Amino acid sequence: MKILVINGPNINMLGIREPGIYGSQNYETLLCDIEQWANELDCEVECYQSNHEGDIVDKIQEAYDNVEGIIINPAAYTHTSIAILDALKSVGLPAVEVHISDVTKREDFRQISYAGMACEEHIIGKGLGGYKLAMRYLCEKYK
Ligand code: DQA
Repeated sequence: MKILVINGPNINMLGIREPGIYGSQNYETLLCDIEQWANELDCEVECYQSNHEGDIVDKIQEAYDNVEGIIINPAAYTHTSIAILDALKSVGLPAVEVHISDVTKREDFRQISYAGMACEEHIIGKGLGGYKLAMRYLCEKYK
């Protein structure tokens, strides 16, 4: 199966941004890890990161008919973007929400997840390994 991994704003700053919350591993090594996990799980993966809400909406729309599953960490747009929620609902693909940090234990404004309302699974606070759990979930269920 082909999986699209979408990361929202500032995820490309991993390793630099708030290491006490997001860890010291950088985005490039996360991309390498995801490639390796895809090999282990025998699936195909494409990674996409953007700081722009509309670009993320465009990418989700493009996924229709091109991939079999989406893993999304919309980052700050999680808590604000109805456009991303609507895009996920529009394409109707199996989607898994990932958050590196445990947003359930953070500020009040992080307690709502719009994108999560269109996701069938939620992997929260498992660090970067959460992406692997999400990949395994999709592969086991849909491959
Ligand atoms: C995040 C949590 C969000 O609240 C935050 O805005 C992020 C990252 C996470 O992966 O823990 O940028 O999605």
